Amino acid sequence: MSQLTGASYQLPKSSDDDKAGIDDFLSRNPSKPVIVVQGLGFVGGVMSLVCANAISCEYAVIGIDLPTPESYWKIRSFNEGVLPLKSSDSKVTEYFERACKKGNHYTTFDTYAYAHADIVIVDVNLDVQKQSSPEGELSEFDVDMAPFSGAIEAIANNCKPSVLIIVETTVPPGTCEKIVLPILRRGLSDRNLPTDSFRLGHSYERVMPGPNYIDSIQNYYRVYSGVDEESAVTTEKFLKTIIHTDEYPLTRLQGTNATEMAKVLENSYRAMNIAFMVEWSRFAEEAGVNLYDVVNAIRLRPTHSNLMYPGIGVGGYCLTKDALLASWARQNLIGKRQPLSQSESAININDQMPRFSFEYFQNIYPKLKGARILFLGVSYRGDVGDTRYSPVEKLFNYFSAVGAIVTCHDPYVKYWDEKSLEIEQDLNTHLSISPDIIIITTGHSIYKSKKIIDSLFALNTIFIYDTIGLLSADQIKFLEQKHTIKVLGRGDL
Ligand SMILES: NC(=O)c1ccc[n+]([C@@H]2O[C@H](COP(=O)([O-])OP(=O)(O)OC[C@H]3O[C@@H](n4cnc5c(N)ncnc54)[C@H](O)[C@@H]3O)[C@@H](O)[C@H]2O)c1
Repeated sequence: MSQLTGASYQLPKSSDDDKAGIDDFLSRNPSKPVIVVQGLGFVGGVMSLVCANAISCEYAVIGIDLPTPESYWKIRSFNEGVLPLKSSDSKVTEYFERACKKGNHYTTFDTYAYAHADIVIVDVNLDVQKQSSPEGELSEFDVDMAPFSGAIEAIANNCKPSVLIIVETTVPPGTCEKIVLPILRRGLSDRNLPTDSFRLGHSYERVMPGPNYIDSIQNYYRVYSGVDEESAVTTEKFLKTIIHTDEYPLTRLQGTNATEMAKVLENSYRAMNIAFMVEWSRFAEEAGVNLYDVVNAIRLRPTHSNLMYPGIGVGGYCLTKDALLASWARQNLIGKRQPLSQSESAININDQMPRFSFEYFQNIYPKLKGARILFLGVSYRGDVGDTRYSPVEKLFNYFSAVGAIVTCHDPYVKYWDEKSLEIEQDLNTHLSISPDIIIITTGHSIYKSKKIIDSLFALNTIFIYDTIGLLSADQIKFLEQKHTIKVLGRGDL
């Protein structure tokens, strides 16, 4: 589990700088190669800790983020020795504590940091702007490259001419060659510096915030490339210092277009697989078939082992946008007129999944006005405290719009930013108000525990709606002795 957790600090004034802080940090870490990690979010925050605990090199690591209300607190928090993310992976705390002890991790908002970097790792966000109908149908989308380009300009205007820049941000294919490279050349040339000695690589993250957060960076397969041979070789050399490449060998692709495409293809494939199951869920419900049993039977065939299960919808920062980045790139960077229509359609279908889940339940339980409903989980994914683009938000809106009184529990989320809601983390407090309906909305492991199943059983007769297939057949059988259970995609119940 992981969640960014923040306190509020007074923002620096526009004239403030942090040169003294950076100089002091570097003077305490003489002769270590300097890595600057740009962006201290879910990826960059933990990547900076992995670099500070590199396998075969001792780096001085500076994390840089923006002095904005959304991000400044992360900078302060790291420097004050308080990890700004809550994680179920104990290695995250361990790595942070070790870095604090060694004194080789520092965070700042001052772009002066780039002037000292031997390596810059780009982990900023690159968002897709979507427009949808009230029913959740995707009507239009666009990709504003300006903030990402601005981040690259900040590097280009300050970096050393010999720097290695590795882009990890998920970008539209074509970005490194067509956007990053020209910005870097221009920035160096404007400062009368040579434009042929920097190296530019691309190596996307497969990081999975959750119980294997660190391992998903350090003990996992990586794909990489460079804009030229030297860039690819230098990128590989660096990756070998932070990843256990003896066990997880690197894969080099032909160029940055290829690695950029690999990332968005991976996520488009997954989004498509999920979208595919949406109509089969409806079909199974109509036909009185338990789709979970069907999928489990099919999954035994190695060729079909990753067929998805039914669900409430797709959330998180990546799967909800990456197919659109690809389609946008085809039209805007590669110069073709056609979109990637199947990939766009997958996002469109997935965006509507919470509405399908709501309508399915409304058909069974039409008197929702005034009903007290408890959601178990607001995060988009089990054992993770990330509410970005969580499908639970849309479900919450649908139930609230028909007058249901919705309260939410989530062991990993204290404050639900998108809904501006404090989340009570004690489940017993929620259960003591005797909800009429409990909806299982996130697959947090603790919801499967005997203790919680027993607490649900102890309630007065209620309706339990499992939107993600969390309950096992035995748990359903047990709870059904007292309650009504409905599982999305299980037409036999
Ligand atoms: N979250 C995941 O699980 C995951 C997994 C794999 C890949 N990715 C990709 O990694 C990238 C980062 O994702 P994330 O989840 O960490 O995003 P995030 O929004 O949590 O973090 C991005 C950070 O970058 C900072 N930032 C933006 N512009 C900046 C600038 N000019 N200078 C310094 N900092 C700047 C933001 O303030 C923010 O703190 C995205 O491209 C995402 O698609 C994410």
